[in-house]
Amino acid sequence: MNTLNTLDTALAQARQNYIDKRPESLATFENATRYMPGGNTRTVLFHEPFPFRAARGEGAELIDVDGHRYLNLLGEYTAGLFGHTHPVIRAAVERALDDGVNLGAHNRYEPQLAELVCARFPSMQRVRFTNSGTEANLMAISSARVHTGREKILVFDGGYHGGLLYFAHGGIAINAPFPYLLGEYNATETTRALIRDNADRLACVLVEPLMGAAGCIPADKEFLGMLREETARAGAVLIFDEVMTSRLAYGGAQQLLEVTPDMTTLGKYVGGGMSFGAFGGLQRIMDLYDPRKPDALPHAGTFNNNTLTMAAGCAALRDIYTQDAAEALNARGDRLRKQLNAIARTRGLPVQFTGRGSMMNLHTLSGEVRHPADLDAANDALKELLFLDFLDAGYYLARRGFIALSLVVDDARLQGFAECYSELLDKRGALIAAV
Ligand SMILES: Cc1ncc(COP(=O)(O)O)c(C=O)c1O
Repeated sequence: MNTLNTLDTALAQARQNYIDKRPESLATFENATRYMPGGNTRTVLFHEPFPFRAARGEGAELIDVDGHRYLNLLGEYTAGLFGHTHPVIRAAVERALDDGVNLGAHNRYEPQLAELVCARFPSMQRVRFTNSGTEANLMAISSARVHTGREKILVFDGGYHGGLLYFAHGGIAINAPFPYLLGEYNATETTRALIRDNADRLACVLVEPLMGAAGCIPADKEFLGMLREETARAGAVLIFDEVMTSRLAYGGAQQLLEVTPDMTTLGKYVGGGMSFGAFGGLQRIMDLYDPRKPDALPHAGTFNNNTLTMAAGCAALRDIYTQDAAEALNARGDRLRKQLNAIARTRGLPVQFTGRGSMMNLHTLSGEVRHPADLDAANDALKELLFLDFLDAGYYLARRGFIALSLVVDDARLQGFAECYSELLDKRGALIAAV
């Protein structure tokens, strides 16, 4: 292969092409760096050479400040389930606006949303709302620690549970200082032993039924079943972080996988696309927060019950993401993932999409992916190249290859995406085969 065809050269050309086509995005990025570190206030959105700047969203599409249109396959990391401009969400938010914001009082929407959530996720006998999934997980862990009178939490290597709860390669410096044990995802017997060895100190196990940020790695049913069994035996609280995965079925991944946790955390789309989080679970745990009790724990948050989120969330769960809608969306995702994987397989190329239902992730390696360490051998430069190629063709997915389908991305558009993927694999086939 001559130098012009090497991965580095192809990537340099793709970056230059990206830069040349986005002068306005570059200018706004450079200005932003004068006020925000790296011009950024949300690290996950940063990528080289600089992120494009979205001007607006219309239905399933994003338009950037340079006038490029993209099919939005990222779906706001699962929160954008309804597309950018769903009329039902808009009407709900407008109604709430008409009644005034910042009421500083119990409003009519919060018990409605709580009822919808508890009916849908039966593990949540009682629920409380927060402003983000991060906060929901911090609250769930803290609740479990108070409930059990124990200190330790068990999380899994590579797990992401929020900005202060990220366990890539063992944890990050700004993590909340909970003493934690690190398990290996899907490693049933070693995790069983870890729980048994720490049974008297373990407050909770926090786990995603499919690891989202770590690369859409589904949990084995057997693994989750073991967690259910062993936490019950140890008297520890089993928390399912369903911030992303609750979209995988009407009643969340816990319904699909038939494992009922003690506590569940939610976020993302459940607030209809507004800032949202929720933690809930067994009444005997959640009643710690019953303010009618003299020793009740306080749970504060100015915006916990903000009317815009509460109203949008009610519309989202009651009127849009029905059982039928959830089934259809996730079936569409399963079909797409199979189609994309067949395209790579027929070409014998070491790329694949893992995931389940409407959540999937591109990986630049072959072989089974059962836990994040399996991805250590993936080629990141190749992933960046494909990401830039997709942008150039008008498809927006996460830099890390993540896709979360929204309800407004229809089959015809997905067929277009599959055809684009075929063309890319033909164009880049030699490079991919060589990595
Ligand atoms: C599984 C999981 N938990 C928690 C969070 C944190 O949610 P938020 O970004 O709303 O704080 C995320 C966000 O991506 C997530 O994927």
